[in-house]
Amino acid sequence: MTHTPIGTALIGCGNFARWQHLPNLARLPGAQLLWLCDHNHDLVAMLGDQYDCQSTTDAKDVLTDPRVEAVVIAVRDDQQAELCLAALAQRKHVYVEKPVGNSPQQALSIAKSATHSGRQVAVGFQKRCAPAYVKAKQLLDADGGVRNLSLRMVDDAWRWASGYPKGALLALDCCHLFDLARFFCDSEVAEITARRSRPDDDAMLLQMENGAIVSITLSGHGTMDMPKERLDAVSMRGGVCVEDFCELRAYGYPEIEPIQRFAGASHPDYPLLPRYLLAEQGASGLASIRRIAWQLRQDQAAGKLNERYDAAEIESFITHTIPNFLRDQGWLSAMEGFLQACAGASTNLNIARAEDAWAAQIITEAALRSQCDQSTIIIDHKPSQ
Ligand SMILES: NC(=O)c1ccc[n+]([C@@H]2O[C@H](COP(=O)([O-])OP(=O)(O)OC[C@H]3O[C@@H](n4cnc5c(N)ncnc54)[C@H](O)[C@@H]3O)[C@@H](O)[C@H]2O)c1
Repeated sequence: MTHTPIGTALIGCGNFARWQHLPNLARLPGAQLLWLCDHNHDLVAMLGDQYDCQSTTDAKDVLTDPRVEAVVIAVRDDQQAELCLAALAQRKHVYVEKPVGNSPQQALSIAKSATHSGRQVAVGFQKRCAPAYVKAKQLLDADGGVRNLSLRMVDDAWRWASGYPKGALLALDCCHLFDLARFFCDSEVAEITARRSRPDDDAMLLQMENGAIVSITLSGHGTMDMPKERLDAVSMRGGVCVEDFCELRAYGYPEIEPIQRFAGASHPDYPLLPRYLLAEQGASGLASIRRIAWQLRQDQAAGKLNERYDAAEIESFITHTIPNFLRDQGWLSAMEGFLQACAGASTNLNIARAEDAWAAQIITEAALRSQCDQSTIIIDHKPSQ
């Protein structure tokens, strides 16, 4: 069913939004992109021209425009909660990036404000909408649900997160994994033990209320050529492994295709080839792209591109090939689900809500305490209660 497009604005046009939310909002039929807002005047003016919409450096312009029904917020964690509450106060629907704030209290205020205003709030835990994870969950649930889950996230945060303090990865990015633990196990976390070998090298064990267990490996000290994410889950008698969102291997499930591959993220500015390479070759296709992109970046850093006749092509390839954005992590689906919810339509997409952000913040706080005290933390305050 088609709906009148939702008048939409994007606040925060940084690196991530330019690769995902902005092109997605511009092409999803459920959205009419009206405004872009960013503190960076030149950037937002340039993008406003490119996407044929109004631009501003002041979020008030966006929030006071009655044509704007929904606001997508992708600034940084220290400002997202405030903007989200301001948007809800103006009765806008909100899609807010993770982490929504720095404390459970901020996430709780958002959940309360969403209920009070009757508006939709979606949170950027969109990995639950990634096609490979949607399929994995279906298979696991059909075999009695997850009993033992292992989640791994290893990347080169030492490069991309250089503006954040050392050790910030647990608060910034692990919230995705806490959300996936709750989502895949259909349970709240009862207790958590977290340890680190050095800042941004963490291991965690989560005991879920329903008896399932989850182990998490988190590191920001990898390199671009390493596979970033992996999920291994055991159900009643069998299980699945998902490698970097593009290859699912199912074990012990009769009549299920044992290896399933998933196309890369759909993106108007990417060449089509990587998308189809992931669909054809799965994890090995992505591994090749990772290795090539990493090697060429090394060559660039070492000044080896200078004498090459194809230096300009390689520079362009390096700029436009960010392997982590090639994987379909559910960005487009989650945004589509949000727009459907704003239009009052039913959606079978399992988008994350303010309560999920609240739960993730509680777990983050407990993990940090566990590391600090070298103890196991019992989580006794749960959003579902
Ligand atoms: N869900 C995901 O998969 C995913 C992936 C990457 C990043 N993120 C999240 O997206 C958010 C943005 O990340 P990024 O890497 O693009 O950061 P970034 O620093 O590149 O971009 C942030 C942008 O917001 C602008 N900004 C900051 N405060 C503002 C304000 N009050 N009003 C208007 N503009 C403001 C900045 O000028 C900047 O352009 C972060 O919360 C990050 O955690 C989510």
